[in-house]
Amino acid sequence: MIIGVPSEIKNNENRVAVTPAGVTEFRRHGHTIYVQKDAGKGSGFSNEEYMEAGAELLDTIEEVYAIADMIVKVKEPIAREYPLIKENQLLFTYFHFASSEELTHAMIERKAVCLAYETVERADRSLPLLVPMSEVAGRMAIQEGAKYLEKPMGGRGILLGGVAGVKPADVLVLGGGIVGTEAAKMAAGLGAHVTIMDISLPRLRYLEDIMPANVDTVMSNEYNIRRHIQHSDIIIGGVLIPGAKAPSLITKDMLKLMRPGTVMVDVAIDQGGCFETSHATTHQDPTYVVDEVVHYCVANMPGAVPYTSTLALTNSTLPYALQLANLGWQLACTKSEELMKGLNIINGQVVYQGVSDAFDLPYTDVHEVLDSYSSADL
Ligand SMILES: NC(=O)c1ccc[n+]([C@@H]2O[C@H](COP(=O)([O-])OP(=O)(O)OC[C@H]3O[C@@H](n4cnc5c(N)ncnc54)[C@H](O)[C@@H]3O)[C@@H](O)[C@H]2O)c1
Repeated sequence: MIIGVPSEIKNNENRVAVTPAGVTEFRRHGHTIYVQKDAGKGSGFSNEEYMEAGAELLDTIEEVYAIADMIVKVKEPIAREYPLIKENQLLFTYFHFASSEELTHAMIERKAVCLAYETVERADRSLPLLVPMSEVAGRMAIQEGAKYLEKPMGGRGILLGGVAGVKPADVLVLGGGIVGTEAAKMAAGLGAHVTIMDISLPRLRYLEDIMPANVDTVMSNEYNIRRHIQHSDIIIGGVLIPGAKAPSLITKDMLKLMRPGTVMVDVAIDQGGCFETSHATTHQDPTYVVDEVVHYCVANMPGAVPYTSTLALTNSTLPYALQLANLGWQLACTKSEELMKGLNIINGQVVYQGVSDAFDLPYTDVHEVLDSYSSADL
């Protein structure tokens, strides 16, 4: 198959969808891979590294879209890319269709085959291509929290791990999923005293088993949150209710209970945030202060560490991309339920219920569309 890797042209996006290691794998399986010149620059991969791995370099994004059967990307295509997409071209990337009607209509019109990273789903309902970014954001949350806890950055002036004879910082983690677990591990490793709250008792039991002794687990409810925020130095918001806006677990009136210079990192800001006073910020201007409490609410935290994020993402996406290239999307999706769940739009037909519901668009069962491709095609 001919695979194309364009540069990401969305503002401030430095990740790339295939690394030189990925190029080597595609080549090993007999595929031809075209990479746009400088596509890997923001993540620290040079054109020479891509060429050595066996990629052909192309100067423009137009050439990449024109030549490829499958486009592998990181972010959803933006308006400038819409006209470049060809009928039946396979696009494997993050789409988040439900948040953009314009993008949905554009992909229907272009008659592309859209396989979305975020809806590839395992039998246990986990989302393997969202996990790596939650891992990055969870670990980063502590790094950022610790930074803003420093006095010159507006924080209380406390060292996360303390020193001999001085108590460490108290870190409260709301939500014990991927983000919360990674945040807790980092904070505990640096010597902080950590409390994780979740509403799932099985999850708390699991965390209690695997976490070190400086991590406590506590049931998440308003009473416990009100009590703990009074002595917390960093509060991490990592809750998720699938398909819904995050709940406001810390309301504005509760900020008064907290000590001046406390730092709140709302990782769940991409789902609306789990603190009432949160609003999305950027890496250029990541924090603001409300009632003497520092708020860090960057919606694309992994964007600040593109090298790590690219490797974390591509470690997860490459095996799926190889299946698609080796078998073609029809057969790969017929054989793998996980990949089939990633299909959102096929040749103008919406085959993902959530996208159809979001914009009241006709829904076609994905099996029906796959069956319509004759066995000769497969
Ligand atoms: N800002 C960023 O750059 C960035 C990056 C990655 C992920 N995220 C976001 O981080 C959030 C968490 O992601 P995740 O992968 O850890 O999700 P996850 O599903 O693995 O974990 C969410 C956890 O929240 C718990 N929860 C639900 N309601 C709760 C409540 N009221 N109190 C306490 N816990 C509660 C759930 O039981 C679950 O354990 C999501 O909103 C995700 O979109 C943001």
